[in-house]
Amino acid sequence: MKVELVAGDIVRRKADLLVVNLFEGTVKPGGATGAVDAAVGGAISAAIADGDFKGEFGEALMLRPGKGIGAPRLMVIGLGKKEKFTADHSRQVMLTILRAAKKCKAKTVATVLHGVGEGGIDPVLCARFVALGGILSNYDYDLYKAEKAHRVSTLLVVENDRNRAALAAGGLKKGVLLGEAINWARDLVAAPPADMRPDALAKAAKTLAGGKVTVTVHGKKELEKMKAGGILAVGRGSEIPPRLIVAEYRGGKKGTPWIALVGKGVTFDTGGISLKKWEGMDRMKYDMAGGAGMLATLKAAAALGIPLNVVAVVPAVENMPSGTAFRPGDVLRTMSGKTVEVLSTDAEGRLILCDAITFARERYSPAEMIDAATLTGACVVALGSVAMGLMGSDANLVSKLRDASAASGEKAWELPLHEEYFEQIKSDIGELKNIGGGEAGTITAGYFLKEFAGETPWAHLDIAGVAWREKERMGYAAGPTGAPVRLLVEYLERASAGR
Ligand code: BES
Ligand code: ZN
Ligand code: ZN
Repeated sequence: MKVELVAGDIVRRKADLLVVNLFEGTVKPGGATGAVDAAVGGAISAAIADGDFKGEFGEALMLRPGKGIGAPRLMVIGLGKKEKFTADHSRQVMLTILRAAKKCKAKTVATVLHGVGEGGIDPVLCARFVALGGILSNYDYDLYKAEKAHRVSTLLVVENDRNRAALAAGGLKKGVLLGEAINWARDLVAAPPADMRPDALAKAAKTLAGGKVTVTVHGKKELEKMKAGGILAVGRGSEIPPRLIVAEYRGGKKGTPWIALVGKGVTFDTGGISLKKWEGMDRMKYDMAGGAGMLATLKAAAALGIPLNVVAVVPAVENMPSGTAFRPGDVLRTMSGKTVEVLSTDAEGRLILCDAITFARERYSPAEMIDAATLTGACVVALGSVAMGLMGSDANLVSKLRDASAASGEKAWELPLHEEYFEQIKSDIGELKNIGGGEAGTITAGYFLKEFAGETPWAHLDIAGVAWREKERMGYAAGPTGAPVRLLVEYLERASAGR
């Protein structure tokens, strides 16, 4: 989809669908909405007066004015209460708009910026979120459909004020690049598990190489040399051996320290010998969402030219039961030298991440390290599909991630890593065990990883509840969301600005 910023009057803009907006409680529309209302003979104010349309958040009024504007269809989108409106709402309304556009097979959509002016959102920021929402909402995974989904080919973002339009163009471009990186991740995550085994994930990662990005894939032999006992054990049950994917983006000046992003890349999680029940097991094709997200964050950082050095480390494995699979009771010697007693082969994420964290620490001595993983079902119980879990060993890093979360609209909520939780993961036969018993499952998983992060400032994002959606919600279509790319790109942008 082409996304363009055009300075001028939306009334005369030629399109298949024209979109303006309204805050809840507005009686007499002003600005662009007022101008369009006048051009169509007061059809919008009449709908408001008759109570057909209130401007509630996400509410849509569809009109066929016949004449007066450059489009056959006119949509007024509700922005809800002015006091509650944030930049992320500008993204969310785009899903309603694009859904309507797809329904009427519109090729060209012209919209105003939702939230500038009356809404008080900065035009650069608003343009970024509108473009991002447009790109994300035009996405469909239709590889296996004979009839392909309709896609909008041009999104015109129309701004009357020339100065504002000039400013907004920069934000728009960034939103497009970010959205494209996220959709790239969504394609990987949505792929059926037979199409996305460790070799396929490595191949996809290699497409990122070029410019300032290099990608190295370590195979089984190298993992053996590195003594990656965790990754090797989890991967042992599959016909496709594990990989360790390492993508480097050198956007920083010489001597800039690394930021390490570690992502769980379990291409399918059957649970292994501790086999999961059949119901919902198909969802475990999403278990590489953290890995795809970290690669996509690096892709976005490169596309945006963020002046930092970023390394993404993704252990890719398929967790399968077989005659060669690892077992409950096994004791693994991890890359760090620490031994881990396996009590469930289904708590496999931490077993591969601990080696990836050690690898990142030893090879890159990163200034900061963040991991993302669909790590625990307990996180879905605790936070649902609204917020991801956030934990960390470094208060400053956690606080920066909280700020990035607020600014990006991708919600994250902190859980504590009190020392007392360590009790639950102490092993009798080795140093650690890979499950912490019934209580505080998200925290004990996080605590396990902390043991491998050592002195490196580290934070962990448990994205089990937010990596995909069962149903459309919060401006996300059903399927993979691309979390936590938006949060992390925001964090990187802030870090490059010294914040
Ligand atoms: N990939 C799962 C976690 C998961 C569950 C993600 C549901 C998304 C939705 C992980 O590998 C797992 O199986 N965790 C176990 C850990 C337990 C055995 C300690 C879990 O959460 O049940
Ligand atoms: Zn598992
Ligand atoms: Zn898993």
